[in-house]
Amino acid sequence: MTHLAITPLHSSLGAEVAGVDLGQPTDEPIREALRRALADHLALVFHDQSLTPEQYLATAAVFGAPMEQHYSQHHMPGFPLIGLIWHRNGQEPAEQWHTDHTNRERPPAATILYGVEIPSAGGATSVANMRAAYTALPEDERQRLDSLTTFNGLDGKPDTRQEDLDKYGRLIEHPMVRTHPVHGSRAVYFHISKATYISGMTPEASKVYMRDLIDRMIQPSIVYQHRWRRGDVLVIDDRATMHRAHGDYDRRESRVLWRIIVEGDRPRRV
Ligand SMILES: [Fe+2]
Repeated sequence: MTHLAITPLHSSLGAEVAGVDLGQPTDEPIREALRRALADHLALVFHDQSLTPEQYLATAAVFGAPMEQHYSQHHMPGFPLIGLIWHRNGQEPAEQWHTDHTNRERPPAATILYGVEIPSAGGATSVANMRAAYTALPEDERQRLDSLTTFNGLDGKPDTRQEDLDKYGRLIEHPMVRTHPVHGSRAVYFHISKATYISGMTPEASKVYMRDLIDRMIQPSIVYQHRWRRGDVLVIDDRATMHRAHGDYDRRESRVLWRIIVEGDRPRRV
């Protein structure tokens, strides 16, 4: 019988999970324990995994149904539900704090990253606990954020395909504070470049306010920085975190992550 060993990696969020081979089918009690661990710890790390694309998709489904990613030019050939994060196909590392795919009605519950090629230095992924960020805000600002919503579209990059803009460019409204469906806690929720504006504010004022929130809220005390080892799987709870990539690695080296996002609930504040 599988025994999960869960060890916190940071005082605010992040835990290493040992005792599970993600390449093998898992039984329902283990799957439930992993979903609960994600809701509690917000970022889960599994070391020394060796996965085919099929195995990776099967194990990602523990956390939700894999969903299509909207930059289809980066889909893995033959596996459209896996996105390739790789600078050699023209991507820049996503260095700005964000959560993923907020322009969907049911945005991802989780983003899952598998480290396939890792540079010798730099290139970490950082994850911030937006549940702790919400709690740390002054009461009057929590109340203000509780009443605000964002309108989210596709922040087209120069190589964004028209078919993706057609499918995913419609504005979607989400609360700036959402209640976690498993944990029950509230967290600050927005994507600064996908949110075209905040309810009742101009686009310019909205960006200024979101930038200011990020600068004030995301302090080292609520950030887990994952330094990649080849074979790591990092599962990020998108409902209560923001994350960013670190572009501080030598571009002559390769950094390849396979990304899967899995569908979550419609964000709501209760
Ligand atoms: Fe991301």
